[in-house]
Amino acid sequence: MARRKIALIGAGQIGGTLAHLAGLKELGDVVLFDIAEGIPQGKALDIAESSPVDGFDAAYSGANDYSAIAGADVCIVTAGVPRKPGMSRDDLLGINLKVMKSVGEGIKEHAPNAFVICITNPLDAMVWALQQYSGLPKEKVVGMAGVLDSARFRYFLSEEFGVSVKDVTAFVLGGHGDTMVPLTRYSTVAGIPLPDLVEMGWTTQEKLDAIVQRTRDGGAEIVGLLKTGSAFYAPAASAIAMAESYLKDQKRVLPCAAWVENKYGLKGLYVGVPVVIGENGIEKVVEIKLNKDEQVMLDKSVSAVEGLVAACKGIDGSLV
Ligand code: APR
Repeated sequence: MARRKIALIGAGQIGGTLAHLAGLKELGDVVLFDIAEGIPQGKALDIAESSPVDGFDAAYSGANDYSAIAGADVCIVTAGVPRKPGMSRDDLLGINLKVMKSVGEGIKEHAPNAFVICITNPLDAMVWALQQYSGLPKEKVVGMAGVLDSARFRYFLSEEFGVSVKDVTAFVLGGHGDTMVPLTRYSTVAGIPLPDLVEMGWTTQEKLDAIVQRTRDGGAEIVGLLKTGSAFYAPAASAIAMAESYLKDQKRVLPCAAWVENKYGLKGLYVGVPVVIGENGIEKVVEIKLNKDEQVMLDKSVSAVEGLVAACKGIDGSLV
């Protein structure tokens, strides 16, 4: 069987890391696309030259023309600008919306059968716009945020409890922003929910609250340290997990920014929810029962996303 083709649209910090991880995991051949000349070509060659050392087989190429992504099985979109210290993800909206238009049109023309994963921020609004500009089915266009947010949550929890990250699960709902909703009662250490661990005296509610807040601010913490850009290792790893689930039909249950209609009280919006990813893309949106407090937090997060979507419509009247 021919190798699968993975197109990375945006060959910056995240794009380069995605390219490297896709090779190390032998997910398929990789095309890096960017408007910057030389960058995708240089990164493609550099990573290809590492393949004999690490022992993986994958063809790499770099391009500045969308025809290079033709027939891609997966497109991962990071094109756009990242935030700098003091900026929120939402500050990127105007610039990155224009980028989504050109990327969506490129995918529509050259890779209409791809599974598309958007990483560009502000995530929930950008994935919504990308779906419209590309015209691809909603189950084939998804945003990466929840895997990253829950990975941050899991990492902080593993540190707090002094246990392996492998034994910590975490559940995050809502938009990828300050209003994201980390759900403690659905987050566990080896299956034991966090509120039980507080009762058992393994941690305190104050410490848990602080970890929840650190998770919400996880992206800003990295931006504050790097100063010249935003996180890229963990975002890339998260998107690769989603791509792998699609390419290998793993049917993993992952929190993603997916199109939600008639669930969670929504009439149609891209927002973070648990989904099953398999060979057909988003195969199922999992709806869980929320308690009152959780519903209030989700409603707040949904309003924030709706505000961003409205702002996009204000900029480009062709979006509906
Ligand atoms: N088409 C294709 N590529 C573009 C376009 C465009 N219209 N506009 C910008 N780019 C490219 C840039 O040339 C750059 O190489 O997108 C790349 C972005 O890379 P970085 O600036 O390194 O940003 P990165 O850290 O990879 O983050 C990308 O993901 O997490 C989000 O907020 C982050 O929106 C940002 C995106």
